[in-house]
Amino acid sequence: MSRIRLEGLTRRFGAVTAVDDVWLDVADGEFLVLLGPSGCGKSTLLRMIAGLLGPTGGRVLLDDTDITHTPPRERDLAMVFQSYALYPHLSVARNIGFPLRARRLRKDAIRTKVDEVAAVLDLTELLARKPKELSGGQRQRVALGRALVRDPGAFLMDEPLSNLDAKLRSSTRAEISGLHQRLGATVVYVTHDQVEAMTMATRIVLLDHGKLEQVGTPEEVYDRPASTFVAGFLGSPPMNLVPATAESRGTLRAHATDLDIDLGIPAEMPARPVILGVRPEHLRLTTPEDAALRGVVRTVENLGSEEVAHCLVGDARVCVRGPRPLGLRAGDPAHLTAAPETLHLFDPDSGRRLAWQPTPDPAAAEPEVPLGSPA
Ligand SMILES: Nc1ncnc2c1ncn2[C@@H]1O[C@H](COP(=O)(O)OP(=O)(O)OP(=O)(O)O)[C@@H](O)[C@H]1O
Ligand SMILES: [Mg+2]
Repeated sequence: MSRIRLEGLTRRFGAVTAVDDVWLDVADGEFLVLLGPSGCGKSTLLRMIAGLLGPTGGRVLLDDTDITHTPPRERDLAMVFQSYALYPHLSVARNIGFPLRARRLRKDAIRTKVDEVAAVLDLTELLARKPKELSGGQRQRVALGRALVRDPGAFLMDEPLSNLDAKLRSSTRAEISGLHQRLGATVVYVTHDQVEAMTMATRIVLLDHGKLEQVGTPEEVYDRPASTFVAGFLGSPPMNLVPATAESRGTLRAHATDLDIDLGIPAEMPARPVILGVRPEHLRLTTPEDAALRGVVRTVENLGSEEVAHCLVGDARVCVRGPRPLGLRAGDPAHLTAAPETLHLFDPDSGRRLAWQPTPDPAAAEPEVPLGSPA
């Protein structure tokens, strides 16, 4: 399996910079997920790695070899697309074996390899069928099989599950993860689905307008988002972000209309504007006396095992998520609080995370702006 390195990779389309100076190392055996909203440049980045699109700047390296100008078929990479792109007139076996026939392998060698891949993907019973006789999930597995059969250095996948229904997505997700673990394959996987990213990735790359916003393990990007963009992209509902003032009054506090919360550390510094971040699952209901946030419930959503209450605290929309029943109804007052270690602070201008708590692993963390620096 292979390492991939991107050095300042850039792609412009006229005035649009779809991918903007991306530096990235994908380790051997890593499952790297490119995550971000529609139009952020995920597919463009992947297509440049595959060689389907030339960069306007920067380089692509595969195991230290510059492949920036190598044609796609000479790169040791297999691409799996959202649309399965199977040959409708060929059987499953011939679809899977197609890349090997193109390489003029011997018939029995092809047969052995196809059988092997079909067993891995649980397609043995279906080898004689045509694509139209398969379900969506089975077709996607055939498309995976066609990539697998080549023994590529790395797999590139662009939203391979987006045509599947929720149940199939979840089982195929588990299948791809299992396959990755068994084969130790290097995978670069594009999605805009945060559940796919959180469950499958060894590392997540968050892209916004073609730029890297944060690179980290699922835990790192969820627990220590580097910016309001990342904080607001991950989580369901995403992190609450409330404009506030941070100020020391013995200990550090953040305050705004109907909000006054202890940040739990002694610090001396002039008051400064911040964005206070707190995840819906970290807010708890409390007594009126102990409330750090005083809101009004607007609506309550039932998610089955949990409920989400949408509240207004001052002008800010704040969601609370917890086991059903939360005990809140529309129109109720919401008396809320959260533990200091669950709070996040961001700079209102740059959106970057502010450093105000000890970093668990400073070497691994994204650079943070010191809280006491001028706003
Ligand atoms: N061939 C092209 N010509 C002009 N602009 C393009 C072209 N391909 C992509 N773009 C633009 O580049 C930007 C990134 O597109 P890209 O397809 O990489 O986004 P994406 O993150 O894959 O989005 P989605 O989640 O919708 O698939 C978009 O603004 C898009 O309009
Ligand atoms: Mg795309």
